[in-house]
Formats: sequence, structure tokens, C-alpha cells
Amino acid sequence: MPRTVRNELEPVKWRNGTLQVIDQTLLPLRLRYVRMRTLDQVCNAIRIMKVRGAPLIGVVGAYGLVLASKRIHSKDRDEARRQLRKSADTLIATRPTGVNLRWAVERVYSASSKISSTASLETRLLEEANSILDEELRAAHSIGIFGATLIDEDDTVLTHCNAGALATAGYGTALAVIRAAIEEGKHVSVIATETRPLLQGARLTAFELAKDKVPVKIIVDSAAAQLMARGAIDKVIVGADRILRTGHVTNKIGTLPIAIAAKFYGVPFYVAAPISTMDLETDPSQVIIEERDQREILYFAGKRIGPRSVEALNPAFDITPAELVTGIITDKGVVGQPLEDNLRAKFAVEATNSAR
Ligand code: MRU
Repeated sequence: MPRTVRNELEPVKWRNGTLQVIDQTLLPLRLRYVRMRTLDQVCNAIRIMKVRGAPLIGVVGAYGLVLASKRIHSKDRDEARRQLRKSADTLIATRPTGVNLRWAVERVYSASSKISSTASLETRLLEEANSILDEELRAAHSIGIFGATLIDEDDTVLTHCNAGALATAGYGTALAVIRAAIEEGKHVSVIATETRPLLQGARLTAFELAKDKVPVKIIVDSAAAQLMARGAIDKVIVGADRILRTGHVTNKIGTLPIAIAAKFYGVPFYVAAPISTMDLETDPSQVIIEERDQREILYFAGKRIGPRSVEALNPAFDITPAELVTGIITDKGVVGQPLEDNLRAKFAVEATNSAR
């Protein structure tokens, strides 16, 4: 029996000139919005991951530039744009791996070239940020519709990190596919990897699916291959922070071993992402993998868990080669193998026309 799984979480909203986001560091115990009025507050929220997930960071970055424009008082258009450029660069540097942030901030910055006087700067930028939010929300629903065709009755889907409503403007990417399949009447259950070190799977994916009454179980990251070996996983669907023209997929650290295990055990491995996650210019060797604070690994719930004399390495993302990816579910349709040729055919024209 079809049912509605419309996720009502609104991870980002603009109200009365302030940006409001769900503070994801408090979930699942507390659902609380933080209000932001300055560029610094937005940059800090992105850095410490009060907001996270590539599409959501893009939307938040877009509004961050609107907030920055409120503090520009110069009547000189070129000077105003110079100050705005500085703010855009500061925003883009907060998290370097996902491409959505750069894409959205550059798009809002470009809108500043269309103003006739600085008096209309904030209004014009806000229009652009609102359009990005609306488009991302629509894209999430389209991803769901395209992706749901790949899901069979009674499938168990493994997902990594959080590619849900909380990582996007709403509805999700990987979780959009699951939501849409359930809305079509299919029975689907989910295995969520806990996603060390910040536990986006255990805290966020499990939270939003449980809220929607979607059956979900949490596993430790290293259990994924064992579950595939015993035939307990029908499909893997993950999100992405940057998809290259070669079909390489950059996503949360731990995605690559899941993809390798999926290939070995013959489990289809799908990536769900909007067009704002496509980067048709960068080579795999040029992707900057964010290295995060060692303390995320060396401490657990505030307690040191590694010897004081030992350091940690904390790359936040990995890159999965195209050959391990069965298909990419986008808001423009599903792209199958060979990924490089099919991505070029589908996105080359749109990328040329985009603000990037
Ligand atoms: O470090 P995070 O939590 O921002 O990483 C998020 C991910 O890797 C997600 O899988 C990705 O952004 C896709 S979200 C739709």
C-alpha cells in the first residue's frame, strides 16, 4: 500500500533576514535551530559541522553570502564586489572537498554582476539563494523518482554517512530514493553504517528514517562486507560530495571499502547526487581531501581513547573509481556504465552553461 514519506525536516530556512539551520551536532538527542546573522557564524557552523552534507552546505553557503552583503556599505559597485569576493573565498575555503559549496557561492556571487546599483545587491543575491534552495529541493525529489525504479520489493539497502534530508535542502539524495520507493508502495529496509568518526549514519540517518517509520538498523562500518558476504544487502546507495567527469566519486571516508566489497560480492553500488555535485573540470589527482582535526578520532564522547603519545590521521573523504560504481542517480536521470562517456553525453552542455 503506497504511503507518504514526505520528510518534514527543514534543515535550512531564511526567516526575517536571518539564516536558521538545524544544529546537527545535537542530533538525535535535540532538534534545535541556530540563527545566524553574520558570515563568521555561517563559516563556523560549516567548519564545525553544525551543518554538513554537500548540497546543504551549498545552500547554506549561498545564504552566507547574502548575510555578508548586508555588511557592505560602499556605494561603489566595484568596491562592493571586491568585498563580496573576499567573503565568497572565505566561505568556499571552509570545507574544500564538496563541490556544491563552491558552485552555490559562485552562483550567488555571479548574480552581483547583474545589479545596476549597490542598493539592490542584497535583494538580488537573496533571489539567487532562494532559487538555489528551491532547485535543490526539486532535484532531491527528481532523484527519488528516478532512483525508485532501481529498487525492488523487499530490498535491503545499505547506505553510508547521511545522504538524507539533513544533508540537503530536504528529502535527501540516497534517502530520497528510499523514500520515493516506499511512497510507490515497496517495502524497503535500510542498513545504516554508523560512519566513524562523527557518526552521521548512527545519529542522523537512523534519526530521520526512524522519524519516517522506515525500518533501519545501524552497523559498525567494518560490518558492511560481512553482511554482503552473507547476502543480507541487495543494494548500496550512497551520496556524493563531488563527482568527476571520469565517474570518480568523492564521498565520506569509508565509501571506497564499501564499493570494493560490493563489487566483490556482486551487490549493485549506486551513487545519488544532484547536478550541483558534478565537477566536470577537476582531475581525480586534484581533488582536495579535507583532513580534519585528529581529536575527532582520538576522543570519543569527550574522553581520550588513544594513548597520549599517538597521533591520528583523519581524512574525511575518499575517492571511489568509476569502475566500482554501477550507476549514478541524478535529478536528470540515471547514468550507467561507461560512466565517463555517459556523464559527458548527459552533462557537458549543462556544465558549459552553468555558473561554474
Ligand atoms: O562530512 P559530511 O557529513 O559533510 O559528509 C557528508 C557526505 O559525505 C555525504 O555522503 C555527501 O555530502 C552527500 S549528502 C547528500
